[in-house]
Amino acid sequence: MEIRDKSLAKAGIDKINWVNAYMPVLASLEKELREEGLFRGVRIAMSIHLEAKTARLALLLKNAGAEVAVTGSNPLSTQDDVCAGLAELGLEVNAWYNATQAEYERHLINSLSIMPDVIIDDGGDFVNLLHGEHIDLGINLLGGCEETTTGICRLNARDAQESLRFPMMAVNEAKCKHLFDNRYGTGQSVFDGIIRTTNLIVAGKVVVVAGFGWCGKGIAMRAKGLGARVVVTEIDPVKAIEAVMEGFDVMKMDEAAKVGDVFITVTGCKDIITSDHFKCMKDGVIMCNAGHFDSEINIIQLSEISLSSSKRRHNIVGYTLQNGNTLNLLAEGRLVNLAAADGHPAEIMDMSFAIQALSVRHILVQNSKLENRVYNIPAEIDAKVAALKLESLGLTIDNLTDDQKAYMCSYT
Ligand code: NAI
Repeated sequence: MEIRDKSLAKAGIDKINWVNAYMPVLASLEKELREEGLFRGVRIAMSIHLEAKTARLALLLKNAGAEVAVTGSNPLSTQDDVCAGLAELGLEVNAWYNATQAEYERHLINSLSIMPDVIIDDGGDFVNLLHGEHIDLGINLLGGCEETTTGICRLNARDAQESLRFPMMAVNEAKCKHLFDNRYGTGQSVFDGIIRTTNLIVAGKVVVVAGFGWCGKGIAMRAKGLGARVVVTEIDPVKAIEAVMEGFDVMKMDEAAKVGDVFITVTGCKDIITSDHFKCMKDGVIMCNAGHFDSEINIIQLSEISLSSSKRRHNIVGYTLQNGNTLNLLAEGRLVNLAAADGHPAEIMDMSFAIQALSVRHILVQNSKLENRVYNIPAEIDAKVAALKLESLGLTIDNLTDDQKAYMCSYT
């Protein structure tokens, strides 16, 4: 166990209880999985942004009978009070806010040392360790689940080389994950992070969104709703046309850099904003990233071309260039919605984590049939989570009649 301060447990448990009230799908699944008994004695290691909703998922797994070890998936998204709360509630926790790279890796390895049957990964750091120096910690593995787009890109690269050592479920690809979490969750929580960190207005500003994928669409939609003029940069012509049809300006980053007031990168790629762009930005711009890694804004180049840098406020560093302009970087270029806010809203993570829990169950039930590949989430899991969410909202929808079913399947 490695946590920063166990006296923070009460605050952490309060946070967990607060989100729990808004996560009815997880409550219903917890009851079902506990009664089923399939999770009893299963060892699960989780590396995921360690805040209250994640804690709720970890507790579900524990309450269903599993032995759970949790760690973070990004040094700045771990919340020390939540870690203390989870430790008090009997989980094995290895994580703290602002861990150094060495500490972060030690926490991952310590969590894997329970020799898990199943892993839950977010971005692929567990999987990388289990394919490198720490293969030995994966000898019991039946499989794992990957939460995010970037992790799945890394898994697909291994799958293409047929070098994956265990089956992995691509949780992000479930409809009840990316259609809600990436779009509405990131859309709202990115502005939560920007607004609480800067205390500035969005209306009237030019907000540049780099990447118009599921996250980018949500961010651009919310920027527009807050009164911004939105510019989108893309590399995919179809996504670029979609952005045009949504009424957004589309241009290259070379041009966007000159007009933007706020820059948000969310591509999953690297070097989206580099020194050529920094040099033509306006004085006082705000830059932040919502993609998984802190490689979208090239901070090394930013430091190199700056005359000086200084902390201007919590989570804001101002870089002053030779031309006298100061460019403000939020949360060290790490996911702004998690490093400078509390991540996605609870109601959204209710669905994402329901997909996680049912994907773990799928591995336990189906492991003898799974190969060492990346698997999409079965449609029944998506349908079940959506139905539970609708029920929790008190909503009912129409069902096809037999006559309508026959009509939809006929060619006349
Ligand atoms: P996506 O694949 O749906 O979208 C990425 C978009 O970026 C694509 O349209 C792609 O064409 C575009 N793109 C790629 N390289 C580009 C470049 N050089 N310049 C401009 N556009 C480029 O992926 P999604 O789901 O939107 O995820 C994006 C990133 O956000 C990933 O790293 C993912 O792991 C992360 N993520 C972060 C969350 C958060 O809470 N902050 C939540 C979910 C995902």
